[in-house]
Amino acid sequence: MAIHKESKVIVVMGVSGSGKSTIAHLLSQELNIKFIEGDDHHPPANINKMANGQPLNDEDRLPWLDSLNKIALTYKSSGCVITCSALRHSYREKLAQSLEDKIIWIYLKGDYDLIYDRMTNRKGHFMNPEMLKSQFDTLEEPNRAITIKINDSPELMLHRIKQELNMTTEIGVIGMGVMGKSLSRNLARNGFIISVYNRHVAGKEENIAADFKSEHPELEKTLAFDNLSDFVQSLAQPRKIILMVNAGPTIDAIIDDLCPHLDEEDIIIDAGNSHFADTDRRINFLQEKKLHFIGTGVSGGEKGALLGPSIMPSGDRQAYEKVKIYLETIAAKDSNAKPCCTYIGEKGSGHFVKMIHNGIEYAEMQLLAECYAILKAQNTSNKDAADIFETWMKDQGSYLLSITIDILRKKEGNDYILDLILDKAANKGTGKWATSTIADSGEPATMIPSALFARYLSFFKEKRQKAELLFSATSQNNPIPILELMEAYQFARIINHHQGFALINSISDKHSWNVNLAEVARIWTEGCIIKSDLMKNIVETLQHHNNLLFNKPWSSILSECHKSIQAVVIKCIENQEHIPCLTEALNYFHGIKIGDGSANLIQAQRDYFGAHTYKKKNDPSEQSYHTLWET
Ligand code: 6PG
Repeated sequence: MAIHKESKVIVVMGVSGSGKSTIAHLLSQELNIKFIEGDDHHPPANINKMANGQPLNDEDRLPWLDSLNKIALTYKSSGCVITCSALRHSYREKLAQSLEDKIIWIYLKGDYDLIYDRMTNRKGHFMNPEMLKSQFDTLEEPNRAITIKINDSPELMLHRIKQELNMTTEIGVIGMGVMGKSLSRNLARNGFIISVYNRHVAGKEENIAADFKSEHPELEKTLAFDNLSDFVQSLAQPRKIILMVNAGPTIDAIIDDLCPHLDEEDIIIDAGNSHFADTDRRINFLQEKKLHFIGTGVSGGEKGALLGPSIMPSGDRQAYEKVKIYLETIAAKDSNAKPCCTYIGEKGSGHFVKMIHNGIEYAEMQLLAECYAILKAQNTSNKDAADIFETWMKDQGSYLLSITIDILRKKEGNDYILDLILDKAANKGTGKWATSTIADSGEPATMIPSALFARYLSFFKEKRQKAELLFSATSQNNPIPILELMEAYQFARIINHHQGFALINSISDKHSWNVNLAEVARIWTEGCIIKSDLMKNIVETLQHHNNLLFNKPWSSILSECHKSIQAVVIKCIENQEHIPCLTEALNYFHGIKIGDGSANLIQAQRDYFGAHTYKKKNDPSEQSYHTLWET
């Protein structure tokens, strides 16, 4: 049911300073109906009284309310928005005379301290606290009004009012798995009126959405469906539908199911971990149907989705502008209270950036696993390893380090749970995609593949056990000092982040996506799995440069920690430990700082067996040479 607001009198009410004029003005513009500033219609006697600082009494207000009522009656068929404090029930009755159900009350609700602060902070404005207090004393809160909290921005307040007027839901979520549920609760808790849908599969998935709604009080206004058509019809147009389902063919199947129910300009948002090339393809497919598709990375796991994830949307910019309010509101906030959500660029750039996020995540996790293995090899208990990592939090603070500390300390009875977990690391595919993309790109982002292959190697448990017996040569037992290990870890993390951002930069250039690296780092400072103090510090560098390696403080830290990582790698090799990511960080560093390398031999070999030609060092013409190598 939609209210025909164009033939209504809308009264925006509340105490002085609650923002009535701003909101009423915006609303009248939005609905294209007359705006009436109530205070402009006081009789001269009231104006004189107020000018002399005397408060108005009930008797003074009568003629004023009377004239506002007359104005309202004049505009009742064309519609108008009136501002009026209308603090008492009796004032509202007077104002509503002969208007019956034609009047809608919008009550701007805020507490005394907030309004007082706002008014005193307003330039050139002086608010007598006594006057504001008397307004609050007079106020009888309406019980039949659309109540809007004034803590939000005028834009968001207006948005909420429009939604309440329309009585449709504003955004829908498909897929009530863990992430879909958390995201839906996040939307509802932020005051959005939503529809949720989960398919019906007899005996397997029944009443999922309805049960979910009944379990959470914040979903009181949510509409729950297991019928796709009803779900779509419940949404205000242009419809905005978030898909929170498994990446891959499921997304295409849902798009196919949705399309017959949609209208032009509707917007589908894929918030799963889709491959960016799939997102490109879906954007093109839906564009032909005049539908919009936004691919968005969402990081933060279940908790992040519920309390504020980091969000990486891309696709049609205009469509993004229509969903921005939802995504930015539910996103985590950075240290400057800015949303950890930014428009990444065209096409599938959002999912691409999320894929690299996951790649960096893989390497960060692997580095921690290597440090844990090194500590374990020198007989450090889980508890002591947790205590050591705790001391690293000061300089190397990160979400992944903090959860590692929790994991190391968690016990089940007398056992550490970590010790009970099978050492085979699974993956859902984003690291593999990142690795293939790296191979295609020509970028030497070597840490992500190393971390991926470490996971693959972990899966060969039986082979590893067999090889352990076969090749059990005695290794050395070089102790590794904790500070040295921490510096090695720090060094490798910088290389990991350097490679990740260089990769984003290179692919962004290739596709002309114009990805803003500093913004990407900023939205990764909170909400996501790779949030860390390092990420916070990287933002500033990336505002001026697109490379960490050549810029301070990173170049200096790499120089300072170089000796430590070198010592750690040497000792670990002698100890026969498997540290692919620490080693790779060092190898990459050594490779990138060799101005004159050995690839000349590769070129000569290629030319020898395949006549692939080569270029000469001191020949600016860059002409190709071929040698008859066999004499
Ligand atoms: C996030 C995570 C998440 C990812 C899991 C599992 O940012 O919230 O990256 O999106 O799916 O971490 O990934 P793997 O199963 O590949 O380790």
